[in-house]
Amino acid sequence: MSTQATHHRSLARLQAALSPLLDAAGLIPGDQAEPRYCQDWSGQRGEPLAVLRPRTPHEVAQVMKHLHALAQPVVIQGGMTGLVASGVPQPGEVVLSMERLKTIEHFDTQQGTLAVQAGVPLETVHQHVQAQGWMFPVDIGSRGSCQIGGLIATNAGGNRVLRYGMTRQSILGLEAVLADGSVISRMGAALKDNAGYDLKHHFIGSEGTLGIVTRAQLALVPLPTSRHTAVVALQTFAQVQALLSLCRQSLGAQLSSFEVMWRDYFTLATQAIQADPPLFTQAAEFWVLVETMGTNLAQDRDLLEHTLAQVLAWDDAVDVVLAQSLADAQRLWAVREAAGEAARAVAPWAGFDVSMPVADMPGWADAIRREIKAMGVPQTQTYGHLGDGNLHLVVGPIPAQAGLKDEVVRRVHASVGALGGSISGEHGIGFSKKAHLGMTRSAEEIALMRTLKQALDPLNLLNRGRIFDMP
Ligand code: LAC
Ligand code: ZN
Repeated sequence: MSTQATHHRSLARLQAALSPLLDAAGLIPGDQAEPRYCQDWSGQRGEPLAVLRPRTPHEVAQVMKHLHALAQPVVIQGGMTGLVASGVPQPGEVVLSMERLKTIEHFDTQQGTLAVQAGVPLETVHQHVQAQGWMFPVDIGSRGSCQIGGLIATNAGGNRVLRYGMTRQSILGLEAVLADGSVISRMGAALKDNAGYDLKHHFIGSEGTLGIVTRAQLALVPLPTSRHTAVVALQTFAQVQALLSLCRQSLGAQLSSFEVMWRDYFTLATQAIQADPPLFTQAAEFWVLVETMGTNLAQDRDLLEHTLAQVLAWDDAVDVVLAQSLADAQRLWAVREAAGEAARAVAPWAGFDVSMPVADMPGWADAIRREIKAMGVPQTQTYGHLGDGNLHLVVGPIPAQAGLKDEVVRRVHASVGALGGSISGEHGIGFSKKAHLGMTRSAEEIALMRTLKQALDPLNLLNRGRIFDMP
């Protein structure tokens, strides 16, 4: 039988099984699927057999019962802002989109918890809880598009990990649907619960390979009433390290972001978004974005001012810009958040998301950039969440030369592996980094991951081939 005939037969089988369950907008044949179901922010694309759009967590479970009976592979989709191609449909897969699971189910304004369904966008959560004096601390650049379910499935990081931890730290309860349609629900809001294994952590950060997140109980923090933002321009990495130590000691728990931009990134990012140059000293080597969050506007500002005044004494070339208004703060953040634009400006590019001790960063960055240059790729962008030991490196444009991109990626990952670092601080492995998982995880660790996958999804239906392949 031709592949086209097989395709038609699979689609007909799917429609027969699911049309009693889903409404008219709940099943879209693959050839009619809008582009947003076919590609994520990695730029890779594929066409699904069909797009399924259940309306409720219960419908997700029902759909999975049927798909399991049909042994139908599934790719789970949230806001499609991932960078490692996990959400991109592979041949024969159906998309299971969470976008209609948009209900905010319960807001406990006394204890500060929010029960939400997987498809609620992050920004909606921020706005919803802010109105009542609470904050959901996870924040990432894609906040307008990304969804809570995807945030959890990838254990997203972002700009405030230094203070509030990764997404994992803000999840009190979770509901997930397994490959066979059974529901694992523990939406309790208890901070302390040691009754056996904490199963929710199997679903957080496993990139949709072990189960489908359908609901979550989010832990909120009281909304900080003061927020101050500054950018410090520095000449040496030793100064960057000294600033981090100073900020940690002097600002204590108020320090919520410590983001560093190397000159190679800063120059391209300011060009990409045509940022207002007078705000910055162009002659620096590093720009550090420091943010504090607290509860006393005037005192907190004094503390930050006093702290950064010490830095001015280090070197004549050091410069500090303290935001005077919210608009100023947004302009400072805009350069750091231009990462997507800056990367797209150098296509075809390769992006990295590595973790290592801060002390190793300057030596690593210098050596790997030299190596990449020697391979014929002159331009790099280096920036990241320095306070978390997590850097991003973007390399491009990569000349169209057979095997060059793969070799660049291999060398960067190998250099990180050699330092005992991680090839993914926050974006995950997906398809993009799968070939190199062994550079950052031991054979025993990968074997245990496969054991878990086999136990939870023996037919290998959920996000098949992401992170690692099954034998
Ligand atoms: C950032 C994304 C790329 O930090 O993780 O901008
Ligand atoms: Zn990042």
